[in-house]
Amino acid sequence: MANYNKKSIADLDVAGKRVIVRVDFNVPLDKTTGEITDDKRIRGALPTIQYLVDHKAKVILVSHLGRPKNGPEAKFSMKPAVDRLSELLGQEVVLASDVIGEDAKAKAEALEDGQVLMLENVRFHKEETKNDPEFARELASLAELYVNDAFGTAHRAHASTAGLANYLPSACGFLIKKEIDVMGKALNDPARPFVAILGGAKVSDKIGVINNLIDKVDTLIIGGGMAYTFNAARGQTVGNSLLEEDKIELAKELMAKAEEKGVDLLLPEDNVIADHFAADADHKVVEGNIPEGWMGMDIGPKTVELYANALKDAKTVVWNGPMGVFEFENFAKGTAQIAEAIANSDAISIIGGGDSSAAIEQLGYADKVTHISTGGGASLEFLEGKVLPGIDCLQNKDAHRAYVCGNWKMNKGVPADAEKFVTELLAKVKDVDSEILIAVPYTVLDRLVALTDATNITVAAENCHFEDEGAYTGEISPKFLAKMGIHNVVLGHSERREYFGETDELVNKKVLAALNWGVRPIICVGESLEQREAGQTFDLVKQQVEAALADVPADRLGAHVTIAYEPIWAIGTGKTATAEQAEEVCAHIRQVLANLYCEETAENTRILYGGSMKAANAAELLGQKNIDGGLIGGASLKADDFSEIAKVYQDR
Ligand code: PGA
Repeated sequence: MANYNKKSIADLDVAGKRVIVRVDFNVPLDKTTGEITDDKRIRGALPTIQYLVDHKAKVILVSHLGRPKNGPEAKFSMKPAVDRLSELLGQEVVLASDVIGEDAKAKAEALEDGQVLMLENVRFHKEETKNDPEFARELASLAELYVNDAFGTAHRAHASTAGLANYLPSACGFLIKKEIDVMGKALNDPARPFVAILGGAKVSDKIGVINNLIDKVDTLIIGGGMAYTFNAARGQTVGNSLLEEDKIELAKELMAKAEEKGVDLLLPEDNVIADHFAADADHKVVEGNIPEGWMGMDIGPKTVELYANALKDAKTVVWNGPMGVFEFENFAKGTAQIAEAIANSDAISIIGGGDSSAAIEQLGYADKVTHISTGGGASLEFLEGKVLPGIDCLQNKDAHRAYVCGNWKMNKGVPADAEKFVTELLAKVKDVDSEILIAVPYTVLDRLVALTDATNITVAAENCHFEDEGAYTGEISPKFLAKMGIHNVVLGHSERREYFGETDELVNKKVLAALNWGVRPIICVGESLEQREAGQTFDLVKQQVEAALADVPADRLGAHVTIAYEPIWAIGTGKTATAEQAEEVCAHIRQVLANLYCEETAENTRILYGGSMKAANAAELLGQKNIDGGLIGGASLKADDFSEIAKVYQDR
């Protein structure tokens, strides 16, 4: 399950700070004059920009525009967007002539409180779409805080849409906040009845959405070209209508699934059909079968009535995709009447996708619906229940959100085994609202990163070196990890301290090196049985924490650093610390952090417990005030146990 409870700019202290804001100023330009033909996206970002100006931030905006392929090109300059923004904002907006070059750096440096700078088109660098960590780090170095407000690109893991969050404390802007508040609530906790209307040409484009929504809605309405594949699946003839022959079986399965879940699945009862595909084609209405030589172009009047009826009592409506060929007037009625029915309903109404949004706007219903999503691809992926990297990367509002990290140690390092296991695990934790990490052997990192893309499992490394590269046979650097898309690492595990002689100083070097590459360390500390019996626990843990964090700036703590308390005598021994023992030391660690930094930093830093944690004892341990999650070894190798622990935590 994706987590939408993210910090927003209202949760940040922005006064006097340089804030880099990813906006979506990818506006349409007139091909001949180069003028902006629709400034909706710029206006959409105004609340965030205005807020930052009013709160005395130094604002640095970054966006892409169009698809530049070969570096800087005048026709893709942000200049028109800057001019328009300046008009709308009623103040000067400075344009840098580059993105991370000298001009951008000098202008960012010279910003006064409340001033606004826009960087040049971020896609002038090909590193942007590759989410290159070096580029992201350079971009991040212009600022102290990162705000993402570009919902339209939130489904992309690019340097400016996600990578920046690895280097800076982060939050969402007001535009993304509205998207996730409204759509997130509809998906996770909808007012009922919940009706979804899906249209558009192809079943194949909407399989993900149908699959996700079928578990959540009370009624699912299908229209548009894809309806004919469903009608064919229930035995009707469809003439020359759009038909995905190879999706008929799938349509049958989805119909069976709806039946099994008690979801009302509504399909067109009648259709407006035409003898060929043209605006002025001969047309008529038929019920049921579509005769040979004719094609369905729109839903018919009976169907409109059926659908409008289903919408009448709805409390939540999600609409994505037109009901017919609405760009032709003769075949636009179905879409228009459904739009009207939605506009007239009292339901929370959410319009996603370019075509349905355009229809609602053209028909003048824009202010009669609750929310028109500003993302095409992004809102579709959102409705599919996918984890959007541009949102997922941002800091959680709840600093103590459930956090479980599996530590596989030297197990499951054979790719086929690891993949099989993670596939099983993914199915078990699909609906779990905890942050789930798995630290795995190097040999499977690459494959598991691919396998867990857009899911709620994040892959981490079990260790890394402190240099970027060099003569260190057998070692892996944080730079390599970052380049692989790995942004979490376990450091200073007691097994490394014991078998490989890692000292506090070494752990500190690794922590700094990891942070330098936007790789978040989970720093392990803990005492041996001997040390515990000698009464050294508190002093030792204090010393380990202090040493590991030497030279680590405060803003990295809440955002990027996690501490794991792992009493060595409890690791792999089956001997768990009692909840009191664990809590006592975790509370002590929080106090050490408060002394080192401040109360707030300590409060916002997550502290895990590790050592023989299993499904049976997780609830008690994780019920403690200062334990924010678990670092789990043995039990993380069993999908049942590990997913149970993740669930326990969610319910606390
Ligand atoms: P364990 O390991 O859960 O198997 O005791 C914990 C760890 O080493 O992190």
